[in-house]
Amino acid sequence: MSIRRKLIAGNWKMNGLKAGSAELASALVANWTSGAPPACDVLVCPPFPLIVPVAAALAGSGIAVGAQDCHARPAGAHTGDVAAPLLADLGCAAVIVGHSERRADHGETDATVKAKAEAALAAGMIAIVCVGETLEQREAGRTLEVNTSQLRGSLPAGATPANTVIAYEPVWAIGTGRVATPAQAQEVHAVLRAELASLLGVESAAATRILYGGSMKPDNAAELLSLPDVDGGLIGGASLKAADFWAIVTAC
Ligand code: 13P
Repeated sequence: MSIRRKLIAGNWKMNGLKAGSAELASALVANWTSGAPPACDVLVCPPFPLIVPVAAALAGSGIAVGAQDCHARPAGAHTGDVAAPLLADLGCAAVIVGHSERRADHGETDATVKAKAEAALAAGMIAIVCVGETLEQREAGRTLEVNTSQLRGSLPAGATPANTVIAYEPVWAIGTGRVATPAQAQEVHAVLRAELASLLGVESAAATRILYGGSMKPDNAAELLSLPDVDGGLIGGASLKAADFWAIVTAC
């Protein structure tokens, strides 16, 4: 058995209103309490304004709440941004940083992502650092180079297996229904782990969780989660339906 406990994380992205989100969270809690405790860690990352009500709905279950982004600075004049210490104060256990949608929509560079990840760690949260190649980069044969370079540039100083999780999210597989084949996912995960070994040492690399994200669904989760270097999933679309998300949790 792997020394790495799997993590299934739901990224709700910019979806949901108050009522529906409370229902979704309650349905997850019902799943949590109705069966045996899952064999993996479970996290959901709602939009910022829903963190408080979702955390309240999840209270008492083992399901953790996280955020989808944070600012690199702990406070200050940054209109519209959200600081990591506030997220921690609201009960967030983790923050997703460097998602490809933020890299694309907000021009986030590796340096920005690294600074945000460091802010998350400084606030006592786990940083979930996302990397992934575009279709164009894959077709140009640049997949491994792009992913290792993003990892090197985005990994926070002070990263440990306890405070940092890597998420491999091929951009062409996000929200497209097109999923990486097991061979494609395993290849990149193994290369990311080798890169982690050179950055953090072999022992830390062996203990660091690397999630797969990109059209993970109930019908492909078990196969992806059984790969030697896949330590969980970062789930978009399928995390918005309690039954689908829980089917992935139980696939662990
Ligand atoms: P989908 O599961 O909708 O493809 O999204 C994946 C993702 O981007 C998770 O962060």
